Amino acid sequence: MLAMTLARPLTLAIETSCDDTACAVVDGEGRVLASSVSSQLAAHRPYGGVVPEIASREHLANWPAVSTAALSPLGLAPRDADIVAATRGPGLVGALLVGLSLGKAIAYALGKPFYGVHHLEGHLWSPFLSTNGGPAAAPPESFAALVVSGGHTALYGVDGGAVTTLAETRDDAMGEVFDKLGKRLGLPYPQGPLVDKLAETGDAGEPLPVPRVEAEFFFSYSGLKSAAIRRLEALERAGLTVDPADPPQPIRDLLAAFRAAAVAQLVDRVDRLHKKRPFTLLAVSGGVAANRLLRREIASWADGRNVDLRLVPLSYAGDNAAMIAFAALQRHRRSDPGDPWTVEAESRIPLG
Ligand code: KG4
Ligand code: ZN
Repeated sequence: MLAMTLARPLTLAIETSCDDTACAVVDGEGRVLASSVSSQLAAHRPYGGVVPEIASREHLANWPAVSTAALSPLGLAPRDADIVAATRGPGLVGALLVGLSLGKAIAYALGKPFYGVHHLEGHLWSPFLSTNGGPAAAPPESFAALVVSGGHTALYGVDGGAVTTLAETRDDAMGEVFDKLGKRLGLPYPQGPLVDKLAETGDAGEPLPVPRVEAEFFFSYSGLKSAAIRRLEALERAGLTVDPADPPQPIRDLLAAFRAAAVAQLVDRVDRLHKKRPFTLLAVSGGVAANRLLRREIASWADGRNVDLRLVPLSYAGDNAAMIAFAALQRHRRSDPGDPWTVEAESRIPLG
């Protein structure tokens, strides 16, 4: 039914790189027709983080319901897809293998091209997804991209579809330090969004350090994590007790200072890049792009410099399959024929 009015090619995509099982359909104009994500939070929460084997088993169990939730309301079946895509890495190999095998099997059975997509390439293009039902505007030939997630913190230059890494983290990713500090406070997984929410009620006061960069260009978050934990230990030594359900004001203030320094580092690197190698559009994506302070600060930075800011819509900041479909569509538009059936799942793959 609906399918008759949709722009071809239709891309069916699968994302299973970590703890979300996701399926999406995106049309040839970049419209998200369906995007369903099944979270495994309940399965992992007792362990305080993602347990790889549980993630793989959950993907296998959740896929039938997730794909039905995406396709049925559209009156579509997998055979209606013109392109099939799945995340091939980076991520948990066992988890990736589930989605990659499903995607290859569907494409193989249908005789359609298959794209094994780099997870970060999915995030990178996600700010350009159309969420209002209209066609997505074509991404520009050249732009800067900031991708901030639980596993990565990086700045890229994109030129004609080719991606170059300009800066990346030397140690922890920003989302990872939010999770670790939150875990140390006894907050439930995933801690990042809760740390952000508590930080909103705190006063940053005395700032925590932002590592400086001179000739070299990189991110580093492990020093900030240690500094925040040292401040927490000092509060504990002074007799402060923390109820994770309702942390006292000094903890909220500490989280505000931590978040301010984490975001300041991102804005500092973006600003340095802009001075060194000016760009007119900045695309910001990844799970941490949901951070309230980051959204405010980067918007005010861009405003002052006439930079066109594309902040990923909140609903596509975290892992989803629409971004994987959209990244495959970008490759298809550049006449990339897709990947061979031998394309493998990889826990680490460089991008650019
Ligand atoms: O992109 P994503 O869903 O998965 C990865 O590819 O890693 O990012 C998840 C990360 C987690 O570390 C989570 O705690 C963090 O994003 N995160 C946040 C916020 N929302 C999610 N970190 C800070 N503030 C938030 N509001
Ligand atoms: Zn991600």
